[in-house]
Amino acid sequence: MTSPQTPASARPLGVAAIGYAFMGQAHSHAWRTVANHFDVPAFEQKVLVGRHGEAVAAAAQKYGWSESATDWRAVLERDDIDIVDICAPGWLHAEIATAALAAGKHVLVEKPLANSLAESQKMVRAAQAARTAGVRSMVGFNYRRLPALALARQLIAEGRLGSIRQVRASYLQDWLVDGESPMTWRLRKETAGSGALGDIASHAVDQVQFLLGDTVTSVSGTLHTFVTERPGPGGPEAVTVDDAAWATLSLAGGAVASVDVSRVALGQKNALRLEVYGTTGSITFNLESPNELYFLDGTEPVELQGFRRILVTEPGHPYVSGWWPQGHVLGWEHSFTHQIRDFLLAVAGGTDPSPSFEEGLGVQRVLAAIEASAAAGGATTLVEPVPVAEPGGRAASPASASRPGSALVEAAETDSHSSIPSRS
Ligand SMILES: NC(=O)c1ccc[n+]([C@@H]2O[C@H](COP(=O)([O-])OP(=O)(O)OC[C@H]3O[C@@H](n4cnc5c(N)ncnc54)[C@H](O)[C@@H]3O)[C@@H](O)[C@H]2O)c1
Repeated sequence: MTSPQTPASARPLGVAAIGYAFMGQAHSHAWRTVANHFDVPAFEQKVLVGRHGEAVAAAAQKYGWSESATDWRAVLERDDIDIVDICAPGWLHAEIATAALAAGKHVLVEKPLANSLAESQKMVRAAQAARTAGVRSMVGFNYRRLPALALARQLIAEGRLGSIRQVRASYLQDWLVDGESPMTWRLRKETAGSGALGDIASHAVDQVQFLLGDTVTSVSGTLHTFVTERPGPGGPEAVTVDDAAWATLSLAGGAVASVDVSRVALGQKNALRLEVYGTTGSITFNLESPNELYFLDGTEPVELQGFRRILVTEPGHPYVSGWWPQGHVLGWEHSFTHQIRDFLLAVAGGTDPSPSFEEGLGVQRVLAAIEASAAAGGATTLVEPVPVAEPGGRAASPASASRPGSALVEAAETDSHSSIPSRS
């Protein structure tokens, strides 16, 4: 294990990003804008990495990177690179992240953490070893950084909803509705791990655990593939992942959540909907209206109760003070800027960012349990708990560990270009 090479104070942090398509562009936008809006440590967008020399060079120029490269291994050997931002498909996450951490680079990796439990566990071991040497790691569940959802988390943590009984988490898209839509890496099990489950149920499950500050203990699930064959490069090819998934989740604190996700829900473009119902309050949210959070205060006289629309653009709302006057709304891409901001502050401040790789593994275990349950006809399946690391690198028991997202709430309080259709 190599220690981080250069103290942040000695020179700007050198950043490399791997992947320059959908997420590569979204993350590049965040790297390019974060210092305009937030006080972050000095950094340089050093190198953008892809497979095709000319295309990645053009992207690097367009997205504000000084250089481009086609060999990520060679980039990891560079002394001027301190941070590696992995925007490549899931099948590469474990290989790149473990090599980067071993080389002493701080790592931000896109969700899902990896394509399998074995890879995820390997990544957690690498992150734990790196943490003892001051090397930081984080998984990119960017929706935690939407001001409305960070506010929802705060309201729930403050007890404004009372004791949480029920959650509905639904993530619906329709980019695969056409049966002639061609095969991509996202539709093959060996490259994607799973379909809508890993792609978008990962976000939904993370939100359930993040919003409630709780962990899923058991699940019952169903997976379905509606279009079983699609045009491939050499003719019709079998689709080996799910198009849609459904699950019921039981949480340690007693709440029950339902999750349903689909990439064939005609008319739904990117509808992540969250509803949380407690004993004294309720909230609802839809990503297609990302600045709005609806809150019902059940302590008011019932004659006056109703969902009130909170326009989450006040300077006192999480992250908003870095942007525009109230009412000058933010979008989907700002969640990535906030993600980079929090990651940079953790790296410079010597603290562990959230969601950690352990939290990413926690989501993977829930997804794996849903898959196992579906294979067993929906049988109730237990989710193995993940020991969460304490600052300094020691593993704490799940019961005593900090809850998912707590570090983020503290941080927030202080202050398509892909050749395939777009995805999450
Ligand atoms: N947080 C979100 O909302 C969100 C949205 C979309 C995708 N994602 C995640 O981001 C990751 C990437 O997805 P995407 O949609 O950007 O995929 P994509 O297919 O659009 O882009 C993948 C990129 O990886 C690069 N790549 C592939 N193999 C490489 C290699 N060996 N060396 C260097 N680069 C390589 C490709 O050149 C391409 O630039 C996935 O894990 C996906 O689940 C997250």
